[in-house]
Amino acid sequence: MTSPLRIALIGAGNMGQQHYRHLQTLTQATLCAVADPGPQAAGLAAEWGVGYFADYRQMLEQVKPDAVIVANPNTLHVGTALDCLAAGVPVLLEKPVGVHLDEARELVAASKATGVPVLVGHHRRHNPLIVRAHELVQGGALGQLTTVTALWQLRKPDSYFETPWRREPGAGMLLTNLIHDLDLLRHLCGEVRQVQAITSNAVRGFANEDCAAVLLQFDNGALGSLTGSDAVAAPWSWELGSGENPVYPRQADQPCYLLAGTSGALSIPQLKRWHYADVDGGWHEPLLAEQESFSADEALRLQLQHFVRVARREVEPLVSAADAARTLALVEAIREAAETGRACTPMLIEE
Ligand SMILES: NC(=O)c1ccc[n+]([C@@H]2O[C@H](COP(=O)([O-])OP(=O)(O)OC[C@H]3O[C@@H](n4cnc5c(N)ncnc54)[C@H](O)[C@@H]3O)[C@@H](O)[C@H]2O)c1
Repeated sequence: MTSPLRIALIGAGNMGQQHYRHLQTLTQATLCAVADPGPQAAGLAAEWGVGYFADYRQMLEQVKPDAVIVANPNTLHVGTALDCLAAGVPVLLEKPVGVHLDEARELVAASKATGVPVLVGHHRRHNPLIVRAHELVQGGALGQLTTVTALWQLRKPDSYFETPWRREPGAGMLLTNLIHDLDLLRHLCGEVRQVQAITSNAVRGFANEDCAAVLLQFDNGALGSLTGSDAVAAPWSWELGSGENPVYPRQADQPCYLLAGTSGALSIPQLKRWHYADVDGGWHEPLLAEQESFSADEALRLQLQHFVRVARREVEPLVSAADAARTLALVEAIREAAETGRACTPMLIEE
């Protein structure tokens, strides 16, 4: 039997601890070390029974892990991942892949040059409900995809912003949260040709935006909108609708994405699909609703299982550094569009 993959955790904060919890449920992998200079990390490593390092470079040298999970602050992602690749260690890198496209490109090039894989933590793509939605859209169940409405509207408590890096450039709602929705829109609906956008920080007054309205034109001709705010008492978001993470009390009947095509429509996360009995049916006919089914499962655990196979070179990453860089390019186009008031095109990223 293959021995469990020895995975080290770099960054044992909120997200790192979630990864640890899921790692505990796998038989094919085990935690071998924690690297994090923060005040609580040594205690966590002791509690989890693994070696502790303040500096991840020392950890790489001394522990020689088979793979690492990187869940440190966004601005450190690329530098950390580059060091891991240089040591020949496959990386599960939390999103965003980087905070600037230039550094993300550097990571794409390093992964290609070293042949060491990077899986980026856009974990929602591993959720079985998204797998089913992807099958439906790509399989033509909606006909020609025409309009897409995406909502990310909720309220983060003020205490969330007590952690300094979350208020500073390199964090912010677009890069921390809407990047998930934009990644799913690319995954479900295809690449985006151009965007227009307005952002605002009028509620919280931090350097980063707390509200955004984005218009999207997809390569396939579909048109979409995405509105987001982290400062509103509202139920429309993946977090509250999907039930993926029990820390967010669920609003199961509220959608976050509405996809409409010439022969059908789909609400996500409900996976309710509407269509007419006849393909040429119209507004005087009853619109029929079907409940699509899927086997619910934990996206973060499925992502880790996939990562074990990626690290063992059994499969290609579902979300490679280049793929995630395309989502980052979309975020950058949105920022540029908001700053200039012009329609902007995401930069091309070669594999
Ligand atoms: N996939 C998701 O749904 C999701 C959800 C939340 C956060 N995230 C991502 O996870 C990452 C961490 O977010 P968080 O909410 O856990 O933040 P956090 O502040 O709770 O944790 C970050 C941790 O990194 C540690 N750290 C700081 N510098 C370090 C260094 N040089 N080396 C190693 N560790 C270092 C900190 O001490 C802290 O423990 C971010 O990139 C964020 O975007 C992803």
